Amino acid sequence: MNVQIVLVGSLSEIPKSYRNENIFLFGKTLFVHKENEAYLYLGTKKDRITREDIRYLGGHTRRQINKWNVEEVNMDFQSLLKLAKEMNEKEVVTCFLEGWYLAGYNFNKYKQKNVNKQMSQLKMKGESYDTCNDMAIIRSRAINTARDFCNEPANKLTPEIYVKRLKEMFEDTKVEVEIIDINGLEDAGFHAVHVVGKGSSRSPYVAILRLNNGAGDPIALVGKGVTFDSGGTNVKTGRDIGEMKMDMGGAAAVTGAIQLLSDLDYKGNLLAVIPLVVNVAGEEAYLPSDVITYRNGLTVEVGNTDAEGRLILADAILYSTAAKAKYIIDIATLTGSIGHALGLKKAGIFCDDEDRLWELKEIGARSGDYVWPMPLVEDYQSLLKSDTADLNNMSASIYGGAITAAMFLKNFVSDDCRWIHIDMANTVRPWKEECYYTAGASGFGVRLLAELVQCERISDVN
Ligand code: BES
Ligand code: MG
Ligand code: ZN
Repeated sequence: MNVQIVLVGSLSEIPKSYRNENIFLFGKTLFVHKENEAYLYLGTKKDRITREDIRYLGGHTRRQINKWNVEEVNMDFQSLLKLAKEMNEKEVVTCFLEGWYLAGYNFNKYKQKNVNKQMSQLKMKGESYDTCNDMAIIRSRAINTARDFCNEPANKLTPEIYVKRLKEMFEDTKVEVEIIDINGLEDAGFHAVHVVGKGSSRSPYVAILRLNNGAGDPIALVGKGVTFDSGGTNVKTGRDIGEMKMDMGGAAAVTGAIQLLSDLDYKGNLLAVIPLVVNVAGEEAYLPSDVITYRNGLTVEVGNTDAEGRLILADAILYSTAAKAKYIIDIATLTGSIGHALGLKKAGIFCDDEDRLWELKEIGARSGDYVWPMPLVEDYQSLLKSDTADLNNMSASIYGGAITAAMFLKNFVSDDCRWIHIDMANTVRPWKEECYYTAGASGFGVRLLAELVQCERISDVN
């Protein structure tokens, strides 16, 4: 069966016999099949159509089509172009296709009955949209890379397997992959990664990726890679701790972003630092009260082994600083608090330059990875006091946990380096499984990081 997509923005555009009061509203659909013809009417009425709306329509179309046995989908972009006035033609088509491809994602490699339906072919009417199609494929591939990493269960994605996969995926690209194993961690200055990771028989690693494709000091991307977070000695007690296989969502975002930027032949220097550990309790595991001495001499008392992410990120930030990074962007599934503050649709974004936060929020919205400005409250630094060491990794207050976590990291960022911190604990899964979001991880952060890196205010900073 072949299906024609028909976009409708008003009642008059629907054939009389199918008129029902709200089919023209954005996101509503009506499938009509008569003899040899089939139509999917897609409502588009909305005050303002954004890039994300177009991606939504692409994903939504594919999901609807998947319910039927469709060989060919015919799409005429002309009506879509009229809707999205603030975008150019290429952007509109690319966004639609990005949604289309992302909606085709599934993670069923561990199911015996691998029910992969025959994919419908999308036929685009009019001009050739090859460049849009290529761009959408490159972008969705990178996002699906992050989804794949996040969806892997903890026994199938250990730190060791993670670094192996990195080596494989960047073979024959301009991205250099350096791996530091447990024996090299201390020498390379990753003291906290060693301390946090030594409790597990699945030993810790650090992956360093470099894309040297331009002049000047690098932008560093730092991603939290806890392939499972049981809380360690401060063991988690919730029912759903299987979720904690996705505590490497930041690492996955960085991995996908490097893949995307490499595929786009990004002209600049990038450094990615990905600490990988399993946080579990045990004979060898680190304990509350332990003191970690960082490469710059700063000491941290472990108030809580479940606040492990900030400990290993601090190592990676210090490493990036030593590597002369001019900008550090870290991304992590860092705190449960960020979800309490913002719900499940927008991640928290922190920046050492508060005036830039609203601009960052806009970049996020355009990319489809929503972020919302969060404050760095200097006074809260006092909540991280320790009797024994320079700092405690656990705040003395039960409030503002996402902010105190960010304030902890701030201690490791030097004054001459710009810094953005993204807490994505609340967005590693989609807030709703709809349009281009399928079951499992969202792939959050890939597009956001790639777009931040490409933004001039960040790439041109000296
Ligand atoms: N990995 C968790 C944060 C998290 C929570 C991610 C929910 C995804 C969903 C992190 O390591 C953690 O345990 N944070 C603690 C910090 C606390 C002990 C200071 C938290 O947020 O409760
Ligand atoms: Mg934890
Ligand atoms: Zn964690």
